[in-house]
Amino acid sequence: MVEEGHILIDRVSKSFEDANAAGGRQLILSGISLDIAPGSFTSFIGPSGCGKSTLLRIISGFLFPDGGKVEVDGKKVEGPGVDRGFMFQDHVLFPWLSIYDNIAFGLKVQGTYEKRKEDVKEIIHQVGLDGYEDHYPYQVSGGMQQRASLARALIGHPKILLLDEPLGALDAFTRMTMQEEIRRVWEKSHTTMIMVTHDIEEAVYMAQKVVVLSSHPGRVIKEIPIELKRPVDRESPEFTAYKTEILKALHYGENGLPEDLGEVVS
Ligand SMILES: Nc1ncnc2c1ncn2[C@@H]1O[C@H](COP(=O)(O)OP(=O)(O)OP(=O)(O)O)[C@@H](O)[C@H]1O
Ligand SMILES: [Mg+2]
Repeated sequence: MVEEGHILIDRVSKSFEDANAAGGRQLILSGISLDIAPGSFTSFIGPSGCGKSTLLRIISGFLFPDGGKVEVDGKKVEGPGVDRGFMFQDHVLFPWLSIYDNIAFGLKVQGTYEKRKEDVKEIIHQVGLDGYEDHYPYQVSGGMQQRASLARALIGHPKILLLDEPLGALDAFTRMTMQEEIRRVWEKSHTTMIMVTHDIEEAVYMAQKVVVLSSHPGRVIKEIPIELKRPVDRESPEFTAYKTEILKALHYGENGLPEDLGEVVS
């Protein structure tokens, strides 16, 4: 089987107009290079405003870099495509469609709906929205909208799934259940997943590799492969060590913290 879903990010940079910045533009991403293996699970973590959503939008093809390029399976990304599913941070659902129709939307566009009706039912069950199929987005809570949006992104079985803080609006318990759910879908589907999160624990729990980004401009500070035995024990020393490593990278950059200050952030 040919492995699909390889993402190559090659020296990507991006700036936006900003009246307050010197020269009227602000550099947001600078020289981002990442090689994301087919079927892998990567988390991006970094301070608010460092360019995580911008980077996902560039991978999805909704936004173009000023410099560098993104390739998917050797082909330069020149626009959005059905090979790349995307769940936006603001998880927009179509307000005029029911929860069910929002989730089934992609299949109807693809013309596969009639064959895959059972899959729609199954995914609705997986994300815990049984009984809410006929509701409209404004009639359900923010967390439910987020779950519907996740279901909509999962149903098309894209070879790449880009998730921008998919669980941000959920309470702690639902969030942990959904972390399991996304992991399970990933394990079954061989989809290449990139998930942006603010939550260090979530990044360590879910991903095979955590990419730590800096801000002003956004750069890759560190790539940390996560090697934990499953099921993962969130209380274990190994788990805590990864969390500390990420925290240090976020605060102090590539080289972490001088040893004698290590205790302060541990
Ligand atoms: N279309 C745009 N035009 C101008 N500036 C933009 C645009 N999109 C994003 N920016 C700016 O680029 C920077 C990075 O934004 P981005 O949304 O990628 O950050 P983020 O890392 O996803 O932040 P958060 O964690 O808060 O979601 C911010 O300063 C933002 O104001
Ligand atoms: Mg964002």
